[in-house]
Amino acid sequence: MPMKYRARSRRSWAEPFKIKMVEPLEMTTREQRESAIDEAGYNTFLLKSDEVYIDLLTDSGTNAMSDRQWAGMMSGDEAYAGSRNFYRLEQTVRDYYGFKHLIPTHQGRGAEHILSQLLITPGTVVPGNMYFTTTRAHQELAGGTFIDIICDQAHDPAGDHPFKGNVDQEKLKKVIEEYGADRIPYMCLHTTVNMAGGQPVSMQNIRETTEMCHARGIPVYLDATRAVENAYFIKKREPGFEDKSLAEILKEICSYTDGCTMSGKKDCLVNIGGFLALNDDDLAERAKNLVVLYEGLHTYGGMAGRDMEAMAQGIEESVSYDHMHARIGQVEYLGELLSDNGIPIVTPVGGHGVFVDARAFLPHVPANQFPAQSLAAALYVDSGVRGMERGAVSAGRDPTTGENRIAKLELVRLTLPRRVYTQAHMDVTAESIVELHHKREKIHGLKFTYEPKLLRFFQARFEPVDSQRVLDD
Ligand code: F0G
Repeated sequence: MPMKYRARSRRSWAEPFKIKMVEPLEMTTREQRESAIDEAGYNTFLLKSDEVYIDLLTDSGTNAMSDRQWAGMMSGDEAYAGSRNFYRLEQTVRDYYGFKHLIPTHQGRGAEHILSQLLITPGTVVPGNMYFTTTRAHQELAGGTFIDIICDQAHDPAGDHPFKGNVDQEKLKKVIEEYGADRIPYMCLHTTVNMAGGQPVSMQNIRETTEMCHARGIPVYLDATRAVENAYFIKKREPGFEDKSLAEILKEICSYTDGCTMSGKKDCLVNIGGFLALNDDDLAERAKNLVVLYEGLHTYGGMAGRDMEAMAQGIEESVSYDHMHARIGQVEYLGELLSDNGIPIVTPVGGHGVFVDARAFLPHVPANQFPAQSLAAALYVDSGVRGMERGAVSAGRDPTTGENRIAKLELVRLTLPRRVYTQAHMDVTAESIVELHHKREKIHGLKFTYEPKLLRFFQARFEPVDSQRVLDD
């Protein structure tokens, strides 16, 4: 079915770059894809990248670097200790994020591991605006319990709340009253909120939330993975910020918090790397002691010198308005194509991807047959587009009861790598989803054939229920 293009006039967000090098892709047939998804146990994480045409699995580490970043790679100082690239990165993080101490890690979860080990003790609780898979896993590994205090609007896929990532102040207050500040080692503040669909948090909410925590002696650590994307939404949606630069907004967000964990593989426009940034001297000292144990010396923490150089350059590029306008503009473009054609998606469209409401898309597939997992597999079969399940499979089981966690949202995430795909790729993706929606009755549910204990979504395997295939002809 051909897509309908909008006739209304618009001023586009065209990319502020031109393409200097291309990476050719193999095109596959439907038959090849049917066999590939079967081999992969109907889990898009287990597909080989060569089998994928348009890879919207994640925006993590899949960014295209700029010529300046590649040039910076050549100036990598691969000294074991005291690499010059570390000092540039340290200064860049101070300049843009405003935190005093930089502890580099191989990626975001390395920083989460160290922060969790330093602050969490068994029996403590960590409130946060929705969980993220690796963040919560590290909190639990250290003996803590995560408590979700995100606003109720975040759990409603439809709706037009501009800051669905906001913390619900009442829920936070209740958690503090119930457990007492002594049992709360820190609050974990995500910007933007990945699992809610890349939804932002408002500056006002950040200010009020951090004030409430600090008044009771509870530090707040930011998950700054997509904080620049959050800054863009604040500029666009929150009164008083329209004339501020993304750099100013980012700095203000960070200024209310005590430090951050960072997966550099997103906002920072690189393929690998992360960091923990802290203001507290004593905590930073202890973090440096731990990073040596788990990641590498405190002046590289699992990154090569060249990776740190690329990240420093990427941070500078990430706060460019033109970059972010095109980046989020592309996400919104895909979102518009889908919603204009009646596809149920999470609204407003978030910062790093479009999240399809699989429960509404496949009403005939029951929750225990994993509608989002099924839809992601069917999409791959139809067009070679790879998305990711973010629903019951990702939510996993409760570690104490062993029961499946009830996922309020059952989504397929179409995540957009930065600076990688074109508008035509977005059109092809939308056309496939619209086509699938027309023949949704032909999509079958799935059941587990293998279920790993931790972070099961990465390696779980499935087979179609009552059918040989996940998508009939
Ligand atoms: N925090 C958030 C909000 C994330 O989205 C991620 C990773 C991490 C922490 C962990 O960072 O992967 O560098 O160790 N998200 C990826 C994703 C995996 O696909 O959303 P990491």
